Amino acid sequence: MIERLDALEAEAARAFDAAQDGGALEETRVRHLGRKSELTRILRGLKDLSPADRASVGARANRLRESLERRYEEVRARLASASSPAGPSSGHDVTLPGRSIPRGHQHLISQVLHEVREIFHGMGFALAEGPDVEDDWHNFEALNIPKGHPARATTDTFYLRPDVLLRTHTSSVQIRVMEKQQPPVRIICPGRAYRNEAVDATHHFEFHQVEGLYVDEDVALADLKGTLDQFLKEFFGPGTEMRFSPSYFPFTEPSAQVEIRCFFCGGKGCGVCGPLSGGWLEVLGAGMVHPSVFRAVGYDPERWTGFAFGAGIERLVMLRHAVPDIRLFYENDVRFLHQF
Ligand code: PHE
Repeated sequence: MIERLDALEAEAARAFDAAQDGGALEETRVRHLGRKSELTRILRGLKDLSPADRASVGARANRLRESLERRYEEVRARLASASSPAGPSSGHDVTLPGRSIPRGHQHLISQVLHEVREIFHGMGFALAEGPDVEDDWHNFEALNIPKGHPARATTDTFYLRPDVLLRTHTSSVQIRVMEKQQPPVRIICPGRAYRNEAVDATHHFEFHQVEGLYVDEDVALADLKGTLDQFLKEFFGPGTEMRFSPSYFPFTEPSAQVEIRCFFCGGKGCGVCGPLSGGWLEVLGAGMVHPSVFRAVGYDPERWTGFAFGAGIERLVMLRHAVPDIRLFYENDVRFLHQF
């Protein structure tokens, strides 16, 4: 019996080593370790042997079973590693399309800032930038808004120190550029502005503006009108109608509120332009640079003339894309951002 077990061991070991794939291995396992295998039969028959034989044959047979089970596991591991990572029996489907990596893109506000820069670049305006943290001089004083001037009350300013603040408009950049550079000046300044506003659908404490400034000899109101008309047609479409109505800014004289014909209702009056507007949408503020501003930066107001304008980027975008709430720009909800 012991010899038979020795012979079985040699035979089974050869068979396991010869298995080339999962199917052959399984067959070998059934033949040598399965319920109907010779080994199983010998183990079942142990009870009929004499006590002495039972002890020796039992020990030998159990050792054999353990060694064959080990061998089976070894061969199985070898076959599995040889066929991975993408062999036909590994369970991987190499023809499946790959998983795509979600890709981000520029925020709508950044896209529009870029677009606005390009439009004005085409009209000869250079890019200028200034700091978000500004001093009282550049944000107010030099723009003809002295301390105690009522216009200070209309912008709720975030002060960092009594004379240092977050700029309430990009007009501060006009001053910085004119202090450094002699005319002619033709710049736009896109950037952030801050006001201590209660947040609602159309107001935010942080928003973007684009400021424009053109200073030269004999700059006329007609130049301002022509420039803005061109900009608005490029931005809102060639059929855009524009008009100026009188307004007030301390740093321009005369000052204008620039409006476009409501493209939602065609000028009849609707929920967007409001029943009292007569179908016009206010899009920006503008005017001819005030002589006091020229004096503050050391320009001779007798010699130089200029125009300036300032537009809220969020407002332009909300109108063009019918975005109902300014907060959508800042909440980073990808369901909104993906649309643009
Ligand atoms: N600074 C003004 C504002 O923030 C806009 C403006 C700029 C008006 C330049 C006239 C000239 O409302």
